[in-house]
Order: sequence, then C-alpha cells, then structure tokens
Amino acid sequence: MKTDFSIPQRVLHWLMVVLLAFNLLASDGMGAFGQLYFGDQPIPADIAFSANIHATFGIAILVLGVLRLCLRFVQGVPPAPAVEPPMLRIVAKLCHFAFYAIFIIMPLAGIGAFYFKNSAAAFAHIGWMKTLLWILIGLHVAGVLVHQFYWKTEVLKRMTIGSRS
Ligand code: HEM
Ligand code: HEM
Repeated sequence: MKTDFSIPQRVLHWLMVVLLAFNLLASDGMGAFGQLYFGDQPIPADIAFSANIHATFGIAILVLGVLRLCLRFVQGVPPAPAVEPPMLRIVAKLCHFAFYAIFIIMPLAGIGAFYFKNSAAAFAHIGWMKTLLWILIGLHVAGVLVHQFYWKTEVLKRMTIGSRS
C-alpha cells in the first residue's frame, strides 16, 4: 500500500503553494491593471510588468496542476488515516477535488480576462473563484493542523520528509 506521496508529488505541492501564495498575496497591482485595462486607459510599464508576472505564474499553476492531476491518476495517493471520521474523509476528498478544479478554471478565467478582455471571466476570477480558493486553503490548513496536533497522524510527514523518517 502507498504510504507517502511520491517525491514529484511533494515537490509539485510545495511549488504550487509558493506560486499560489504569490498570485493571491502579491496581486494588488492586478486591481489597478484591471481598472485601467477594462476602462481602456493606457497601462504604465510597471503595472504591465507585474501583470505579466501574474499571468506567467498563473499559467504555470495551470500547467503544474494538470501535471499533478495526471501524476495522481498514475501514482495514486496514500489512503486517509483510519482515525479520520468518514464524514471528514468526504469533506477532505471534496476539498481536494475542488482544489484541482480551481487549479484549472481560475487560470482559464484569468486568460479570458487578460488575453480576450472578457469582463465576465474577470468578474468570476476576482470574485467567487478567489473567495473559494481562500476558503479551501483555510479548511485545508485547519484539517492538516487537526491531523498533526489532535489525531497525531503522519499526514504532514507524507507530504514533506516521508512517514518512514
Ligand atoms: C490560480 C492562479 C491564479 C490566481 C490564484 C490568481 C489570483 C488573482 C487575484 C487574487 C487577483 C486580484 C483580485 C483583486 O484585485 O482583489 C487577480 C486578478 C487578475 N488576474 Fe489572476 N490569478 C491567477 C491566474 C491568472 C492568470 C493565468 C491570468 C492571465 C493569464 C490572470 C489574470 C488576471 C487579471 C487580468 C486580473 C485583473 C482582473 C480585474 O481586476 O478585472 N490571473 N488574480
Ligand atoms: C495554496 C495552498 C495549498 C494548496 C492549494 C494545497 C493543495 C493540496 C492538495 C490539492 C492536496 C491533495 C493532494 C492529492 O490528494 O492529490 C494537498 C495535500 C496536502 N497538503 Fe496542501 N495545499 C496548500 C497548502 C498546504 C499547507 C500550508 C500545508 C501544511 C500546513 C499543506 C499540507 C498538506 C498535506 C499534509 C497534504 C496531504 C494530505 C493527505 O495526506 O491526505 N498544504 N494539498
């Protein structure tokens, strides 16, 4: 039985955490970019530069997210620890499924906004998609903390140094 996430799965997890954190937390310039862009105003070079970084990181999230999903189909994932109640197992599964969905649809909406000037895509991107992503991250981190400190399982180890270390 698989006990840990594979090394490529672990590297992808943490690499994507960094990229997502950057796009979520360093996105102030994107608000200004959106206003100028959709208002047909000229865009200063510094705002255009940060928008390009945001777009590049976002497209990297899309590509890595798809790669990670393929890896999941091929390599599988370790089973939920026995101590986890069935109800919370379902919540965790739904949360992971929603993460993978958002890794794909959020960058696609960004592409719609950035390259095709689609305002509905921009609205969804900075509206419910951003909110959903934050909610998922909150639930996810809370779940990991409960595993680590309340149930004292190996869940964090299998996504970092490995459960046999
Ligand atoms: C999962 C990956 C991504 C995340 C987490 C993300 C996150 C964000 C956030 C937090 C904002 C700012 C919202 C605000 O002002 O409060 C934003 C705006 C924006 N993002 Fe992304 N983004 C991602 C991918 C992309 C991609 C791939 C593109 C384009 C290729 C893109 C283009 C834009 C644009 C154009 C805006 C401004 C929209 C507007 O204000 O009307 N994003 N994004
Ligand atoms: C942007 C933030 C994050 C995102 C998008 C994210 C996403 C994910 C996803 C999608 C999975 C499921 C992998 C799969 O079953 O294929 C996962 C697993 C995991 N994540 Fe995160 N994660 C984030 C932040 C964190 C943080 C901050 C921690 C540590 C506190 C963490 C610890 C873990 C652990 C331990 C697992 C393994 C869970 C298990 O064994 O079932 N993640 N993460």
